[in-house]
Amino acid sequence: MAHFPSKEIQAEVFTIRKVKPSDLKNIVEIENKSFNAYPLKYKNFWYLMKHANCDFIVVEVGSRIVGYAITLYKKNISTARIYSIAVDPDFRNRSFGDTLLVKLQDLAVYRKCNGIRLEVDSVNLSAIRFYEKNGFQRNGEMLHYYGHNKHALRFFRKLP
Ligand SMILES: CC(C)(COP(=O)(O)OP(=O)(O)OC[C@H]1O[C@@H](n2cnc3c(N)ncnc32)[C@H](O)[C@@H]1OP(=O)(O)O)[C@@H](O)C(=O)NCCC(=O)NCCS
Repeated sequence: MAHFPSKEIQAEVFTIRKVKPSDLKNIVEIENKSFNAYPLKYKNFWYLMKHANCDFIVVEVGSRIVGYAITLYKKNISTARIYSIAVDPDFRNRSFGDTLLVKLQDLAVYRKCNGIRLEVDSVNLSAIRFYEKNGFQRNGEMLHYYGHNKHALRFFRKLP
């Protein structure tokens, strides 16, 4: 358990932990509220949880899942990749995103990765600001990555 100051209440009790099957229904709801285009489906999350080489974590407030984050790993590649991160709109701007990101980075360091990378939609300005604020630097662009004229920006952060 940890405490963190939030905008609305001074101290908020939350837990960051590994995902479990009963979380997936809530995670799909957060996903659908967070991404208009190509949200991941229940079966995608199930596959990631059961079979992927990944860290799949959630943040829980009381008994409610309010955010999730996933990092993928490839054998013999020392750069981790943030695959997805989302916080329930009702719980944004309370540093849960920051907290998930810090935990993902700690886990990647534990796995001996020396960097972490991600792609983000070039029009997703709040996510871009979120990553920049957390020390990620833009290192490329992938044209039409999300479809025609829907480009992705690549970001990277070196890990200690
Ligand atoms: C990106 C995302 C995960 C960030 O989650 P979040 O929980 O809102 O993130 P944080 O609260 O840590 O930080 C967001 C903002 O809140 C501010 N904030 C955080 N805690 C605060 C506090 N206690 N008091 C005041 N402001 C605070 C931060 O400074 C930041 O503001 P800024 O972006 O204007 O600089 C979330 O917006 C989201 O789910 N977006 C939709 C999905 C998405 O786009 N994911 C990334 C795709 S790759």
